[in-house]
Amino acid sequence: MVRIRYNVGLILIVNAVMTTPRLAWAITGSGHYIEECLNFVLTLDNVDLYLSQAAEEVIKMYGFNLNEIRDKMPVYRDKAASSPPVGLFYSGYYHTFVMAPATSNTVAKCVLGIADSLVTNLFAQAGKCRVPSIVYPCDIAPEMETTAPKGKMVMVYPRQIDLEATDKLSTIEYTEIVKSVDELITCVKARLVTVVKGSNA
Ligand SMILES: Cc1cc2nc3c(=O)[nH]c(=O)nc-3n(C[C@H](O)[C@H](O)[C@H](O)COP(=O)(O)O)c2cc1C
Repeated sequence: MVRIRYNVGLILIVNAVMTTPRLAWAITGSGHYIEECLNFVLTLDNVDLYLSQAAEEVIKMYGFNLNEIRDKMPVYRDKAASSPPVGLFYSGYYHTFVMAPATSNTVAKCVLGIADSLVTNLFAQAGKCRVPSIVYPCDIAPEMETTAPKGKMVMVYPRQIDLEATDKLSTIEYTEIVKSVDELITCVKARLVTVVKGSNA
């Protein structure tokens, strides 16, 4: 067995020895259903929220206040080159990784195996630790209606390259793709039931 040692900070080490496995949820800079995804995350317990740099900007444009989110759950921002929190996957700290919503940019990187940001790193390390990922990509159909900041509805037409990336993502090990907010909620709830049953077995 190969041992990998991540140089994580004291807070992360303290977290890693805690016993209740948690859900890691990443939000990227996709306005598409960002409000619905974030509102659902805020109903859950035992979640750590990860934000891409773009997500940090975009959630503010959609009226969310980062400090209010922090009152509910730990929030990790993309500030370090090596993404130290990914080490938590190696200690069994997370039972599941959710990436919702996922931008065209992040999905494209993930299907190429690129891990050069906090969120793409989380996806890669979750897979390498055989932790299941649930992903809601923003590009799921050739024509979609989406909500711009301040509630304005606009049409968006994902390109072939974007739709192909979504398809390819679904072929990556330990990855499940969902195509609507309802499907996302059902899938995450089902996963949480499985995890609770497993821990009580
Ligand atoms: C208001 C707003 C909404 C956006 N919505 C989307 C979107 O729905 N899908 C998408 O792929 N990119 C969207 N973008 C662009 C991404 O934020 C941008 O590509 C960013 O570089 C993605 O970085 P990330 O993948 O690291 O989060 C949006 C940008 C803004 C300012």
